[in-house]
Amino acid sequence: MRILGIESSCDETSVAVFDTEQGLLSHQIHSQIPLHQDYGGVVPELAARDHIQRLRPLIQLALEQSQLDIQAIEGIAYTAGPGLVGALLSGATFAKSLAFALEVPSIGVHHLEAHVLAVMLEKEKPDFPFLALLVSGGHTMLVLAEALGHYKILGQTLDDAVGECFDKVGKLMGLPYPGGVHVARWADTIKTSVYQLPRPMLDRAGYNFSFSGLKTSARLLWQRIPATDQNRAELAKALQESICETLVEKTRRAVQATGLHALVLAGGVAANQCLRQQMAAMMTEQGGVLYVPRSSFCTDNAAMVAYTGSQYLKRGKIESLAILVKPRWPLDQRA
Ligand code: KG4
Ligand code: ZN
Repeated sequence: MRILGIESSCDETSVAVFDTEQGLLSHQIHSQIPLHQDYGGVVPELAARDHIQRLRPLIQLALEQSQLDIQAIEGIAYTAGPGLVGALLSGATFAKSLAFALEVPSIGVHHLEAHVLAVMLEKEKPDFPFLALLVSGGHTMLVLAEALGHYKILGQTLDDAVGECFDKVGKLMGLPYPGGVHVARWADTIKTSVYQLPRPMLDRAGYNFSFSGLKTSARLLWQRIPATDQNRAELAKALQESICETLVEKTRRAVQATGLHALVLAGGVAANQCLRQQMAAMMTEQGGVLYVPRSSFCTDNAAMVAYTGSQYLKRGKIESLAILVKPRWPLDQRA
């Protein structure tokens, strides 16, 4: 079955064609980062309008890349939530209208489920059940993935998401939006930091996270040191170390408590090399295996949406042509 996937939940417009027999046939991404950069964050209305403009030409490109005619598309998967309501509606309206015109089934995909399942596009992939740590700009959660559509949230952030913490500290240091990747670049220029930031929630049982206090600690430190490149690197390193250690330790506890030996690291922050390395080392110590999608499938992309949608469509899941989006959609209410 050949599925067209559409992602438009935030600031990336992406389109992919996935074939359940042949795998991923094409993948296109347009990043809106330059559009939002002047504002220091995503402007929802601009995002929604830009998705509308980009979708048609991107679909054209994806079809050319896979050497397919639009008639060859047998189903359409689009991100139905969670995300920015206008941005989601741009993709949903396009997807449902196209499905109507082509007379093919369509399905709304859960963005976080798609992040968790992005790893299934790789050669090395886990079988259910597995643990997943989902770390993105909007979410931080430890998930027990029991089966397709069945996810138990073991813990999540009580305030800021980990990507949000990276981005806000990056902004504070005068780094471009989104700050995560720039903070990581600065951090990687030195071996250790002279500063030590707190490891939030490690003294508490359970699997919840909190990154807002860490952001405040970083701000207070930045306010009392000169804004030099050396200090940028020192603070970036201290932040990255604190985030990595906190995520790794909480995840280690979940691995030990559940006895599961497969861990998936997913979401935009999973592109962070330090986190990948430290998480892989922890899983080796625990006698388990870490599965991580390639970096371009960690950040928002339509390949993961096409794959996830294909799993439901090939099982015959039927959805109406009503244009429905869910800006808030808990992962454990997927099924
Ligand atoms: O999953 P994603 O593309 O979008 C959301 O659904 O949120 O995640 C974007 C987040 C941003 O906060 C970005 O700064 C962060 O992922 N990010 C990184 C890195 N690459 C992306 N954070 C730290 N290190 C990176 N290398
Ligand atoms: Zn995402």
